[in-house]
Amino acid sequence: MSRLIVVSNRVPLPSKSGAASAGGLAVALQSALAARGGLWLGWSGKICSDEPVGPLTMLKDGNIEYALTDLTDLDVEEYYQGFANRVLWPICHYRLDLAEYGRREMTGYFRVNQFFASRLLPLIQKDDVIWIHDYHLIPLAEELRRQGVKNRIGFFLHIPWPAPDVFLAMPVHDELLKSLTAYDVVGFQTRQDRENFAECLSRQDIGERLGKEAFTAAGRSFIARPYPIGIETDEFTKLARQAANTTLHKRMRQSLDGKELIIGVDRLDYSKGITQRIDAFETFLTRHPDYQRKVTLLQITPKSRSEVPEYEAMQKTVAEQAGRVNGALGTVDWVPIRYVNRSLRRPALAGLYRMAKVALVTPLRDGMNLVAKEFVAAQDEDDPGVLLLSRFAGAAHELKEAVLVNPYDVEGTADVIARSLAMPLEERQARWRGMMTTLRENNVFTWCDTFLGDLAGNGEVASNEQ
Ligand code: UDP
Ligand code: G6P
Repeated sequence: MSRLIVVSNRVPLPSKSGAASAGGLAVALQSALAARGGLWLGWSGKICSDEPVGPLTMLKDGNIEYALTDLTDLDVEEYYQGFANRVLWPICHYRLDLAEYGRREMTGYFRVNQFFASRLLPLIQKDDVIWIHDYHLIPLAEELRRQGVKNRIGFFLHIPWPAPDVFLAMPVHDELLKSLTAYDVVGFQTRQDRENFAECLSRQDIGERLGKEAFTAAGRSFIARPYPIGIETDEFTKLARQAANTTLHKRMRQSLDGKELIIGVDRLDYSKGITQRIDAFETFLTRHPDYQRKVTLLQITPKSRSEVPEYEAMQKTVAEQAGRVNGALGTVDWVPIRYVNRSLRRPALAGLYRMAKVALVTPLRDGMNLVAKEFVAAQDEDDPGVLLLSRFAGAAHELKEAVLVNPYDVEGTADVIARSLAMPLEERQARWRGMMTTLRENNVFTWCDTFLGDLAGNGEVASNEQ
């Protein structure tokens, strides 16, 4: 078996293994790579103020060898905060209004991709398979090809690929589209994402589509396919079962004192629909006063990308909003919203999911949303909770038995919260069973094996697209 090299901006550092993670990419890749083994190159998370950046930090943890690079202040500002998180992230999440495009940041993005290529090049051996992840590193393969790398290189986009009118509003769209044609396999979360990408290529007259998933451009052929990312389903169920008896969970149950728990778990990000969700919860409580003092919303929202102005502003907005609802509706012995602004470890989360009667997973846009899948896997099959899921999350394409909502419809979502709390056991069980079948069939290992199978396929067009 060839050695696998994974490259991503964010790497869950071995010293923090098991600790609260930095998002879906890190969680999923760690599971996949721990099972298969390989080398993982990424940002150390450290910022150095001077060039040149020192040697890679090499660490080993089980099957995974980490190669970590520091970045300079300027790199982080232009490439990560500037172009990746203030241009690509908002545009891919349909928020053109929040995109702050600047040539300096764009140049920094391409420069840091060249830098990543220079760090990777000395590590590459002849038969290595290279798998690059997410929007931070789109031009990396093109850079490697320029330096003569002939290895198989795949790319997986963890976030949505937006409709062409949205994507093509970005000034450097053609450069990014063309750079994706340097890969052998380009993976998306959903078929819709792949179709949006294909339409962008066709509108810009870049290459040619030869079939459903086969493309050719600049004398190379590549495939573009959906590979919906999964979780370690059975392992997560086990975690949740074990968590039930921990002190934290006993304390939590005690503090609920018989009230129903509703849960939300999201990085503090405008794509997650947190403010709309709190509005919906408030509307639900106002329209259904019978539920007042009988339910509690636990909203776990770790800080994220706090140096980016839109995220910094959100921190204040959400905290104030939760405070306002608690002030308006709370009583001396009941707090409607428990707002936790830090991250929890996954075993703790697993137990809380299991305790909850309803999960509110209501992003305005999301590539997949692993929280939705984890919530389902954590349920007790005899008395499962209800997943209330935004139809704009990638997970909604797979979890058809979830209760789907439009998160922009605050009153509609409020009604669905009431219906979910009152859902009969049989319906809850039937929905849960349907979702669990999907999660068992398509777990994180299926995702990884299918992608790497295609990547090893010497450019052959896979015929088994779901
Ligand atoms: N997560 C965590 N602790 C927290 C909050 C989230 O470990 O306090 C994990 C969560 O279990 C999930 C991931 O972070 O695996 C979030 O992934 P998701 O796809 O839902 O969203 P993303 O953050 O990648 O946009
Ligand atoms: C999403 C992105 C990942 C990213 C994560 C956390 O899941 O798809 O690429 O790592 O959010 O964001 P951060 O900016 O902290 O890496």
